[in-house]
Amino acid sequence: MQKQPVTVIGLGPMGQAMVGAFLDQGHPVTVWNRTASRADDLVARGAARADTLAQALAANELVVLSLTDYAAMYDVLGSATAALPGRVLANLSSDTPEQARDAAQWAAGHGATHLTGGVLVPPPAIGKPGSSTFYSGAREAFEAHRETLAVLTDTDYRGEDPGLAALFYQLNMDMFWTCMLSWLHSLAVARANGITAKDLLPTAIRATDLRYFLEFYTGRIDADEHPGDVDRLAMGVASVEHVVHTTRDSGVDPALPATVLEIFRRGLATGHGSDSFTSLIDVLAARP
Ligand SMILES: NC(=O)c1ccc[n+]([C@@H]2O[C@H](COP(=O)([O-])OP(=O)(O)OC[C@H]3O[C@@H](n4cnc5c(N)ncnc54)[C@H](OP(=O)(O)O)[C@@H]3O)[C@@H](O)[C@H]2O)c1
Repeated sequence: MQKQPVTVIGLGPMGQAMVGAFLDQGHPVTVWNRTASRADDLVARGAARADTLAQALAANELVVLSLTDYAAMYDVLGSATAALPGRVLANLSSDTPEQARDAAQWAAGHGATHLTGGVLVPPPAIGKPGSSTFYSGAREAFEAHRETLAVLTDTDYRGEDPGLAALFYQLNMDMFWTCMLSWLHSLAVARANGITAKDLLPTAIRATDLRYFLEFYTGRIDADEHPGDVDRLAMGVASVEHVVHTTRDSGVDPALPATVLEIFRRGLATGHGSDSFTSLIDVLAARP
């Protein structure tokens, strides 16, 4: 039986990996990209190049978008809205929940169905086990195309609200970028002390495996309970001060841990010194 044909618009590293995964699994793929030459290798592997965007949209019901952001989607699709009726746009470009909600309305206004996607893995993990993408939007359209979308990654459907997949994605990125930047910061301090990234790797892997702490504190945070029975914020302040001092002593810019310290000290100033550091959630939630 022929596998479902699919159109992919946007051939950056992610879109190219997606086309490759569809081709590997025997799905006929039509491709279009603003810079047409990015399709060359994929065409050599069996993809069909659409000469125009309208042809790309007309080719298949399921259209995967892999663009830098939603502004790029409007730039691209805005020129071919007549070809949108009946299309299911699986938009795997990342942006904000509000952008996703607006896009769902915009697509519906042009007779298309928008599915929001938030891809949690880098291009080399596309088509590999263990990868995952958040989806939200019209359930019926998602269910109709779930099997084909699952060629790319596992699918994690979060509900009908088109903003939800984008929200879960942004929550993921919030953690990802701050964790990655803290790793880079510690590497800068390590390097200033003659320690390489390779030397630090086992320590870095241990330090960023926060599963025990997340599981321990989750129930307490949802219950708004922050007892200082295991850790006290006053201890946390002293600990972060040590990080700032070590950074300075190493001749490295302390901006990152200094920002952390400032947040910890705000918690202290609001009387949470004897509570757990998790009481900082209230400090973080309040706009200064
Ligand atoms: N790469 C990753 O590791 C990763 C991981 C998870 C999620 N994502 C998300 O996946 C999406 C795609 O990622 P990527 O790395 O492939 O992004 P990218 O390198 O920014 O490529 C995006 C594609 O968007 C096109 N594009 C951008 N602005 C455009 C415009 N105004 N008009 C027409 N086309 C435009 C580019 O066309 P040209 O080729 O003509 O420039 C290119 O095909 C992004 O939203 C990203 O956040 C990426």
